[in-house]
Amino acid sequence: EELRRESLMIVTAYAAKFFHESLLDTDEGKSIGLSYFKERGFSTEIIKKFELGYSPDQWEAFTSSALKEGYKEQFLTESGLSVKRDNGNLYDRYRGRVMFPIHNFTGRIIAFGGRTLKKDKNVPKYVNSPESDIYHKSNVLYGLYFAKKAIREDDNCYLVEGYADVLSVVQAGIENVVASSGTSLTVEQIKLISRFTKNITILYDGDAAGIKASLRGLDMILEEGLNVKVVSFPEGHDPDSYVRSVGTAAFKKHIDENKKDFILFKANTLLKDVGNDPIKKAGIIREIVESIAKIPDSIKASVFIKECSFLLQIDERALLSELNKMRQAKA
Ligand code: GTP
Ligand code: MN
Ligand code: MN
Ligand code: MN
Ligand code: MN
Repeated sequence: EELRRESLMIVTAYAAKFFHESLLDTDEGKSIGLSYFKERGFSTEIIKKFELGYSPDQWEAFTSSALKEGYKEQFLTESGLSVKRDNGNLYDRYRGRVMFPIHNFTGRIIAFGGRTLKKDKNVPKYVNSPESDIYHKSNVLYGLYFAKKAIREDDNCYLVEGYADVLSVVQAGIENVVASSGTSLTVEQIKLISRFTKNITILYDGDAAGIKASLRGLDMILEEGLNVKVVSFPEGHDPDSYVRSVGTAAFKKHIDENKKDFILFKANTLLKDVGNDPIKKAGIIREIVESIAKIPDSIKASVFIKECSFLLQIDERALLSELNKMRQAKA
């Protein structure tokens, strides 16, 4: 079993090298893949650090090279790098895509995300490795291997949605950043972060999906006993597009000035749509107390009740009694 896992990781390491060299050393890779990354503003340093790559736009470029090198069919298909046809022949899963290798937190490559370069809406934007003995996507955070030292030092972890967000934020000099990429945030991912810090700052996309994911994510983070803040981005922007449009200094300033604790974030986000309707406002206050009820530490919870009372001008005793009701309902 350990041997199987090791064999799989040897294949993924070979693939990463193949895609990386294809990006930097082949005409097709340079003119298509590398120029794409350069247009997106990624530096050579970032491309090398994250071992980005390019998969040639052919059916068997990678697979035939791997077979020639002696890699076994079994590990090529189990890692998802090659797919078996009905006639038994293998073909490449990734063709004509820019490649983002995914490292586990000890730095071994265990999977890939491949982004299409086509604008065609019928082509999936990202193709990711399937689950395998080395890749359980709910247990992995993109970028964690490179971020963990900075997460400890800063005692905070920035959480973004996608691969490109991680690269751009690191390039802007903020190294304590990871992405849940490809899945919505899981409890396992939060536990992984909690080995390095108890503080998470969510930087999700400035669209309806990103706001919804932030609301869900903050509740899960609170439930695990961690502290959470949220930074929103203007509609239509994600951290990657935003840092590119405003520059590094303004991006950092935006984070500092818009970092909100979860109460303020929920209040701002939810109250926006209700105006002065008192019944709807009561519903929102209840939703905020629901988040507070998820905090395991009751002293911390009572501090947030005080803040909520102050911010929303609601009697603290009313909030506390609501909190206690919710806690009892849960117990
Ligand atoms: P860019 O257009 O390259 O900037 O992508 P993005 O990262 O901004 O994409 P988006 O916000 O739509 O998605 C965030 C993350 O979700 C991506 O980085 C991927 O990990 C994942 N994702 C997005 N689209 C797909 C898809 O079509 N299939 C799969 N499996 N994952 C996706
Ligand atoms: Mn397993
Ligand atoms: Mn998104
Ligand atoms: Mn995005
Ligand atoms: Mn993006």
